[in-house]
Amino acid sequence: MKKRILTGDRPTGRMHLGHFVGSLQNRVNLQDEYDQFVMIADVQALTDNFDNPEKVRNNVRELVLDYLSVGIDPNKTTIFIQSLIPEIAELTVFYLNLVTLDRVLRNPTVKEEIKQKGFEKSLPAGFAMYPVSQAADITFLNANLVPVGEDQLPMIEQTREIVRKFNSLYGEVFVEPEALIGDIKRLPGIDGNSKMGKSLGNAIYLSDTENDLKKKVMSMYTDPKRIHPTDPGEVIGNPVFVYHDAFNSDKNEVNDLKERYKKGTVGDVEVKEKLFTALNNFLMPIRERREDLSKDTERLDQILIEGTKKTKLLAEETMKKVRKVMKIDYF
Ligand code: TRP
Repeated sequence: MKKRILTGDRPTGRMHLGHFVGSLQNRVNLQDEYDQFVMIADVQALTDNFDNPEKVRNNVRELVLDYLSVGIDPNKTTIFIQSLIPEIAELTVFYLNLVTLDRVLRNPTVKEEIKQKGFEKSLPAGFAMYPVSQAADITFLNANLVPVGEDQLPMIEQTREIVRKFNSLYGEVFVEPEALIGDIKRLPGIDGNSKMGKSLGNAIYLSDTENDLKKKVMSMYTDPKRIHPTDPGEVIGNPVFVYHDAFNSDKNEVNDLKERYKKGTVGDVEVKEKLFTALNNFLMPIRERREDLSKDTERLDQILIEGTKKTKLLAEETMKKVRKVMKIDYF
């Protein structure tokens, strides 16, 4: 039997290059070898968008389009919607008994997000608890592997703790999942911020038009200490070169640019123009597939309906086991 993957995304916006290198690429590469499930985490998205359900709803189809356009194949990967699997919510309630408030609030990603979202003064309990709900997401299908971005590592760690606690209290029902992060651990934003993020306004989206892409690349942050094209520049950690390494398949060109940059014999404009070309070559087929796929909304819905149906049956099986070991299988 194939090992299982479960991963997912909050439907709060379109996916960007950071998502691609962090997780999407792994999903595309592993969908043959693994029994893969990808979840549209609308329930989790509502934990910090409870006042904006339209946004969450509108981004469900956008996510499916992003998935399919990069090559996630619905014949190999099951795509489903979190809220349509109430078993996840049920399992979350049981898991909440197995974690302390302190432990949840120590999660570094949650801490960071609380700051970013201005939740310091009034923290919605649902938001604070979402890592527990995510542990239920990851385990209800007994996933072995979770391809995610680096920022999600604390969630997997917390999931493993919950699994150990559950299994030791009630019996071996769940497997401890492993995280899998992309080769490029973190893609910087176009503004030089160490992370590309939807909410940071510094992302290049998979669906950006050629024009948007050009504007973003030409405005990219480079080596701040370099003023003239004749100044020797730094390539390590320089966003334009991080992107060249990640997306320019012409390695000779990249090496040549790096050498000249270090010596001060190439200008930012040339480095950026070549980056634009490389990124555009990479994104063009994705953009075109997305455009085509977006015309067939019925097919998109069908993919979600079928994926959710299949997932629901598996969820019911897991919950039977859970109720049995928790001694609440009364009749
Ligand atoms: N928290 C993840 C993110 O923000 C999304 C997510 C929800 C997820 N449930 C998951 C990822 C389960 C992996 C597994 O990107």
